Amino acid sequence: MQRADPSSLLDLRRLSVALGPPGRRVTVVDEVSLSLSPGRVLCVVGESGSGKSVTALAVMGLLEPGRSAVTAERMMLDGTDLSQLGEAGWRGLRGGRMAMVFQEPMTSLNPVFTVGEQIAEALRVDTGLSRPAARERALAALREVGIPAPETRLDAYPHELSGGMRQRAMIAMALVGEPALLIADEPTTALDVTVQAQILALLGELRTRRGTAILLITHNLGVVAETADDVAVMYAGRIVERAPAAVLFRDAQHPYTLALLGAMPEGASRGEALSPIPGRMPAPGTAPSGCRFAPRCPFAGSDCAETPPLRAVGKDHDVACHRAPIEAAA
Ligand SMILES: Nc1ncnc2c1ncn2[C@@H]1O[C@H](COP(=O)(O)OP(=O)(O)O)[C@@H](O)[C@H]1O
Ligand SMILES: [Mg+2]
Repeated sequence: MQRADPSSLLDLRRLSVALGPPGRRVTVVDEVSLSLSPGRVLCVVGESGSGKSVTALAVMGLLEPGRSAVTAERMMLDGTDLSQLGEAGWRGLRGGRMAMVFQEPMTSLNPVFTVGEQIAEALRVDTGLSRPAARERALAALREVGIPAPETRLDAYPHELSGGMRQRAMIAMALVGEPALLIADEPTTALDVTVQAQILALLGELRTRRGTAILLITHNLGVVAETADDVAVMYAGRIVERAPAAVLFRDAQHPYTLALLGAMPEGASRGEALSPIPGRMPAPGTAPSGCRFAPRCPFAGSDCAETPPLRAVGKDHDVACHRAPIEAAA
């Protein structure tokens, strides 16, 4: 369910983000609408530079105000209007109702504190728990994310952990505040394939056990196949197709989605990055008017100079293409 839905946990309508100093801003996220319900996994997929991370940072309130302009018709998290939040409001939500894990845990963990200290500190700041109680909660969080010998790991420094363990520790840190929404931005990209599968399985368990809604950002269709309930495909700052995952893999209709799927090796279920599609995605501010994929699209015609709206082609299935439905090659 990705169309505007007031009952959803996260409801974004026509979210746009422009980056850069005032007067020289370029739009990098262009009227993105998404909605995510509790216990669901929504994957946002697209090539590098398509605006996935900036979308996530806007939802988390992590874009520097002087260097960004965020506008939206609607930007709601669980009854809270994100567009009206001040800095204190954002801080209250982050580590509370929403949390984020990033691709490279080493850059988000502080090297001079132990894993346990960092998790406990995150907790103490927003709950005022005593030190021993916070340590107990940190231990429970490490246990929940499947870190072996958690009592020992609590007193380890980040560099003493493997990449996979660090990512688990990051997820533990995100979970101690019991977020309703977890945003994971390429959480497995830096990990080898086996560990990647374990981390994806962990995210899947969390949503089942806790009912956490997960917004999972990836450039990897294997990850999508493994985890997604719903998928939104982004290209050059816009959503070009969205559908339940099963529908997308069976009945993709946007030429860009088809190209991505065609690039996925037969039988691959994980670990395969997208193969290049001829041509390049336009840099922000340099896209042609109309359909941004048209210069790379084998089906493009003169009507593609008009921006194609996202339109329904099936139940919960929307496509922004004048030519859709395009039949997939057998
Ligand atoms: N701080 C920034 N200032 C200016 N442009 C940026 C900044 N961060 C990202 N961008 C640009 O915004 C676009 C979208 O970036 P991003 O959301 O990181 O893409 P993705 O996560 O899909 O790879 C890219 O063209 C990128 O170069
Ligand atoms: Mg990114």
